Amino acid sequence: MSRRTIALAAGLLLAACSADPGVRTQSADQVSADHTTLAGEPSTTTPGPATTAPTNNESLPVESTVPSGDIGDGVGDSLFPDLGNPGLDVQHYDVALAYDPAADTISGTVVLDVALTSDRSEITLDSLGPVVSQVTVDGVDAAVEPDGPELRITLPTPGRSGDELRVEVAYSEDVSPLTSTVGLPSGWFNTPGGSYVLNEPDGARTWLPCNDHPSDKATYTFTLTVPTGVTAVANGALAEHRTEPGQEVWVWQEDRPMTTYLIQLLTGDYEVIDGVGPHDLPLVSVVLREDRATMQPFVDVTPEMIEFFEQYFGRFPLDRYGVAITDSFGGLAMETQERSLFSREDFLRGQLGSTENMLLSHELAHQWFGDAVSPERWQDIWLNESFATYGEWMWSEHAGMLTVEQAAGNGLFDRPPGSTARPGLDDLFGYNSYDGGAVVLHALRLTVGDATFFEILRQWVATNNGTSRTTADFIAFAEGVAGRSLTDFFATWLFADLPPTEYPTPPI
Ligand code: ARG
Ligand code: ZN
Repeated sequence: MSRRTIALAAGLLLAACSADPGVRTQSADQVSADHTTLAGEPSTTTPGPATTAPTNNESLPVESTVPSGDIGDGVGDSLFPDLGNPGLDVQHYDVALAYDPAADTISGTVVLDVALTSDRSEITLDSLGPVVSQVTVDGVDAAVEPDGPELRITLPTPGRSGDELRVEVAYSEDVSPLTSTVGLPSGWFNTPGGSYVLNEPDGARTWLPCNDHPSDKATYTFTLTVPTGVTAVANGALAEHRTEPGQEVWVWQEDRPMTTYLIQLLTGDYEVIDGVGPHDLPLVSVVLREDRATMQPFVDVTPEMIEFFEQYFGRFPLDRYGVAITDSFGGLAMETQERSLFSREDFLRGQLGSTENMLLSHELAHQWFGDAVSPERWQDIWLNESFATYGEWMWSEHAGMLTVEQAAGNGLFDRPPGSTARPGLDDLFGYNSYDGGAVVLHALRLTVGDATFFEILRQWVATNNGTSRTTADFIAFAEGVAGRSLTDFFATWLFADLPPTEYPTPPI
């Protein structure tokens, strides 16, 4: 496979949602265009907003742009100052929503089991769009003030650090995607056949009042009510499915701590396909009923891919896996926890070519890097994207396509200036978070040797599964496993705006 193909696949991931004209914005174009240029490709070879025709999505108007900057109460994320909420640690979300596909509306409740981490008389939730009708705290009515992007809730009685509260928010909304501050559309997408959500990085708050920051992981129950004949899907295991007059209720349970940006919600004419992976790992994939035969090869390759990564990354870190292939525009790929999300457009050939292999392997690798262990702050995104890209390179070699050495050579050659550890909003999902950071990992591998490198990756996930970590945590961890200082290595390769142009010589 050529360098062009690599760039194309990366472009697909990046273009994710910017490909739909209905949600195009200047900044979305910019992200894609930058990437294309930086990857050294003529713009005509990369699918992107300019060349991708409208697809089967209904109109996707940009309702408004997510405000950026200094409004809102956040947890100090330098890239997203208003994300997260001070003093809150959500333990569990119980999301109960009815979706009306004819009207594109949702209504229901979210119950948050919250532990306070500071003394407070008021709490906030991230909420930008939901129309809130009532909030109770431990069953008592609470005063609420919508102050987008925050929902301000006065606690009926002031709380102390360590208190556990049950906050119930009743709301409804006419749902549609918004443009995130990173220029990519995110949130709730209505399609002709149903709907899906794509939340990374700040889309969850556009349809769910929540603590919308990756530093706070929680477990989830999703109770989804849809009209008769519609399937509703979320992360985790299907705990219950019942039919009622005129409607169906689907209950999904995610017991592994999960960030809000990894939530999966799908509605439509889906078939749920159960399977078994290595060491009896449950597999649950969902494909549109009309696509069943076409998509079977991608369902079938899943066990082999998991087995391949387990040799290097350690045992699959979550309770189940699968693929969900939705009716979105091409280029959508997202590592939604325990079941990655893809676009049917990218898989209609029904066979495993390079694009299919790269998309599938990238999102699977994320289950270790991003999902099991999540970034503590958005600037730590390379802990997700660089590692998933490295996994993609490894699978590519295994599948007889480009070798890791070739991909790493191309990645280094194409790398634009800029530190992988310090992305801005405009290149959070840019080249240096993906291939540019995979280059850093390849250089680390050459520096410490294969055995130590994969030991670092395995132990990193095994030790930190269920938590959110920073780049500094990773460096300290890698040094511990390697038994040596790596300060110079990371200064040179990760933090420098101009990393070396040649790889280190491997240890003998
Ligand atoms: N994490 C996704 C990936 O693996 C990219 C998601 C970008 N966000 C978006 N709203 N399109 O590559
Ligand atoms: Zn990724």
